[in-house]
Amino acid sequence: MKIEGKSYKTIWFENNLVKIIDQTKLPHKFVIKDLKTVKDSINAIKTMEVRGAPLIGATAAFGLVLSIIENNDLSFIKKSSEELIASRPTAINLKWAVNRMMKKLNGINEKDILKIALNEAKAIKEEDEGFCKNIGLNGLKIIEEISNKKKDTVNILTHCNAGWLATIDWGTATSPIYHAHQKGIKVHVWVDETRPRNQGANLTSYELNEEGISNTVITDNAGGILMQRGQVDMCIVGTDRTLSNGDVCNKIGTYLKALSAKDNNVPFYVALPSSTIDWSIKDHKQIPIEERNSEELSHVEGVDENNEIKKVRIYPKNSKSLNLAFDVTPAKLVTGLITEKGVCEASEKGLKGLFK
Ligand code: MRU
Repeated sequence: MKIEGKSYKTIWFENNLVKIIDQTKLPHKFVIKDLKTVKDSINAIKTMEVRGAPLIGATAAFGLVLSIIENNDLSFIKKSSEELIASRPTAINLKWAVNRMMKKLNGINEKDILKIALNEAKAIKEEDEGFCKNIGLNGLKIIEEISNKKKDTVNILTHCNAGWLATIDWGTATSPIYHAHQKGIKVHVWVDETRPRNQGANLTSYELNEEGISNTVITDNAGGILMQRGQVDMCIVGTDRTLSNGDVCNKIGTYLKALSAKDNNVPFYVALPSSTIDWSIKDHKQIPIEERNSEELSHVEGVDENNEIKKVRIYPKNSKSLNLAFDVTPAKLVTGLITEKGVCEASEKGLKGLFK
């Protein structure tokens, strides 16, 4: 998608370096950053210079390429893979991408390993782009249906940033919106600000603005009243891990939006590439929920009148904080899963119908 009219992907490989857009600086500054070592990749994931389930998976895949460039030694590569997986715990794409890379590299000789690793990392990147495009085409049909019935602007609520900045391109939750906009369907997006890191206000609103899509930032708690007032036609969110039973783990606050949607008969869709499905666990209590630094809660970041990024504390130093980054929305609250292969019920039957 575009920034100031120029097309970008969120990650690319150039001259033996990995290039990323530093998302900690957005929307105030557009900075392209070089990752030179596997440590740089781990750090970029931990500090959320790159974030969003599909993008951290791709960053980890390219991180392994960097580790081979640094030190083409099997024990170093293996240690790097473990550190990459540990860099963030909840999004399954990270583990999925690293395991896929390691499986591909298994038994490959020193001479060929770099070329094969780079090809596989590029394949992960390109595959995600294709998945997200198809998610968009499949979700577009739902928006079209609402638009045909309503004959007016379709109001869509989204949480966090499941936009192109969270993937390689298109996004998951935003892809149907981009496709609808490109087809001339009138859409307006309610953007949850998504405390504590404000990925909605900082990133989703920014990328929608850059594509010329009407959007309004709301506080995380405003969705309920908007749904009661009939001002939300549908919700679309992303996911960091979807279980085979259709339970969906996503950014903290998603569950409360789904409860509110259920109470108000608002369809609640989750958009995901198959790389986000965790077939291995059955109970959502087994999902590791990331607990992040309390400073994300106690401080906010913005720009001053000189456009300098500043961080300020907003509550007493001695107040305790709990910063859980994700929650789980049970399948019974999800109207449907929008995947690259089609839309299905949030259930084992639904998912297995699409993915054998
Ligand atoms: O903590 P983040 O910013 O990495 O969380 C991102 C989300 O929760 C997204 O909704 C999810 O990764 C889906 S992204 C296509």
